[in-house]
Amino acid sequence: MKKILICLVCLVVVACTKERDYTVSSPDGAMTLSFELREGQPTYSVAYEGKDVLLPSPMGFVLLAGGDTLRDLRWTVESASYDSADTTWETVWGEERFIRDRHHEMKVALASEKLRMDIRFRIFDDGFAFRYEFPAQDGHGLALTVLDELTAYRFAAEPQVWSIPWRTEYYEGIYTKAPLHEKDTMCSPITMEMADGMYAFLHEANVTDYPCQNLFRLSTFDFQLSTYLTPWMRDGKVLDDKAYVTAPFVSPWRFMILTRTLPEMMASRIMLNLNEPCKIEDTSWIKPMKFLGIWWSMHLKEWTWSKSARHGATTENMRRYLKFASENGFGGVLAEGWNTGWEGYEGINNDRFSFVTPYDDYDVDALSAYARELGVAIICHHETSGRADEYEADLDTAYQFMQEHGMPAVKTGYVSPLIRTSDGYQYNRSQGVVRHYRKVIETAAKYHISIDNHEPAMPSGLQRTYPNLMTQEGIRGQEWNAWAQDGGSPCSHVCTLPFTRMMAGPADYTPGVFAFENPIIPGTRVHSTLCNQLALFVVLYSPLQMACDKIENYEKHPAEFQFIRDVPCDWAQSRLIDGKIGEYVVMARQDRHSDDWYIGAVTNEEAREITIRPAFLGKGEWTATVYADAPDADWQTNPYATTIERRKVSAKDTINVRLATGGGCAIRFEKN
Ligand code: NOJ
Ligand code: CA
Repeated sequence: MKKILICLVCLVVVACTKERDYTVSSPDGAMTLSFELREGQPTYSVAYEGKDVLLPSPMGFVLLAGGDTLRDLRWTVESASYDSADTTWETVWGEERFIRDRHHEMKVALASEKLRMDIRFRIFDDGFAFRYEFPAQDGHGLALTVLDELTAYRFAAEPQVWSIPWRTEYYEGIYTKAPLHEKDTMCSPITMEMADGMYAFLHEANVTDYPCQNLFRLSTFDFQLSTYLTPWMRDGKVLDDKAYVTAPFVSPWRFMILTRTLPEMMASRIMLNLNEPCKIEDTSWIKPMKFLGIWWSMHLKEWTWSKSARHGATTENMRRYLKFASENGFGGVLAEGWNTGWEGYEGINNDRFSFVTPYDDYDVDALSAYARELGVAIICHHETSGRADEYEADLDTAYQFMQEHGMPAVKTGYVSPLIRTSDGYQYNRSQGVVRHYRKVIETAAKYHISIDNHEPAMPSGLQRTYPNLMTQEGIRGQEWNAWAQDGGSPCSHVCTLPFTRMMAGPADYTPGVFAFENPIIPGTRVHSTLCNQLALFVVLYSPLQMACDKIENYEKHPAEFQFIRDVPCDWAQSRLIDGKIGEYVVMARQDRHSDDWYIGAVTNEEAREITIRPAFLGKGEWTATVYADAPDADWQTNPYATTIERRKVSAKDTINVRLATGGGCAIRFEKN
């Protein structure tokens, strides 16, 4: 990863005498963060243009050290140092090719009778962040158990919050909106509309050897959110212990994006800036791609993962998919159910999976040779049923096998209420499982393998450091539209996701269903028009982007399928053109490897007219291919009706489009 240094950092150390006066402002001066000890307890507050956003809010920990519980330590400030940086770095892949990291920093060094602790604050124009740093204590390492992290957010006025509730598994929920006092438990991240109309996104960055945070409204103070770290378990019991760390140690970053507008919130790259630079020297083997899969039909119960008369991953079927992929410009094909162990899968207690033994109707050697001949990658699949301990034991052999067969990427999966690790069963976002996921990423990197992690811990920007972690689930994805008893995700879901879950990183949502009726569960279906499905390739970002439907369904709509053939999944720049959380989204992105721009627009249950002014096109004339809902389209009664129009446009033109209920619009702009 190239680094372009625009400005060198400057460092000033100030020995502070006053108790209250530790303040740092954003480079544009609009946001101010202040640190203050209140009766020896660390607190911070934030103001924007002089108006309080966060009132003095608690910080710190309850710790266990050498058998002593350290609670309510009385801290003093030893020193504060200030720093700033303005650098720009290049992503290996992403929504943006170049990312600017411009911030001011303040580090407050604290001491108490038992412990030393530093708090490092960073403040950007579009948000702030901080993390805790435990230096070596008197030059020695010190083992600490985190019983609680006290970080809290005490809002000056009540925000509206979009969130999913805390639960112990996955993150596959529908984000709902309510005033903060009506929420109780929340998974991180959350998105907020502040009382004064500003927007905020609260999450964590660089979760390394630490549990994922959750946000609970624990206090009697209505507008306060407190951190609840995912706990360890032992023998089926939830422990008080949250993290086992050894000083010197740094915590993940806690950050909040805070902007005047939604486009600014969506453009914020704070989370990536707070992660460490790329640790993989040669990244040439990491390749964004669109792929097809032997997948959707299993969720519709037409095919099976295990061997049967309806087995999906057969040699013949996979040859057909590989051929279709090569004819239509896809980079790869995923085959689920290629390996032994799926018997009993639906009941969770399936056999042990083998990651090197194909079913005897799937000729892995012949298929690998065929894929190589066609120039299409086979994407491997490793469902673990949540048995991370078994998977860790098998990692090297599994990845060697993939390497020998020329497979550059793997979709991993952890379907189970709890994850079994070498430390027993744990929650999937606990420290133990965060460690497991990291081991998988690092081991995969050694074998030049990229990861699509299903049932992950919530993403926190690690893809900057390990760009082979390309995409993750942790989202209520398309598969729910195959079998959800609630009838499938409402149209508003895809209008909420870009502002919520997707802000935490790429997601393997799997767009591209072209046949909406569900043969299995009457009443369950995809709440979408065909154009809505096309638009999702632009709206929901993933550098490994799966077009999830069957070949037969794509063949029925060749003109619309052309958009999926054309749309890239690696971008030079991305912009929210228009949108309202949960109502509609208009995203524009420019291809990283050509001049082309693309637009994806989706709406909720309401039909609406949108006006696009493509100022982003800059100079010259362009040909726009506009895929729009036909005037009589409707997700329930007429979802396939589409109009496709080619026209000449320039940056000064306006494009008016009507989005049907549950509808969408997809546009490709090619430079003439
Ligand atoms: C859940 C994953 O999210 C899904 O995509 C996959 O097909 C199944 N597990 C089987 O591994
Ligand atoms: Ca899943």
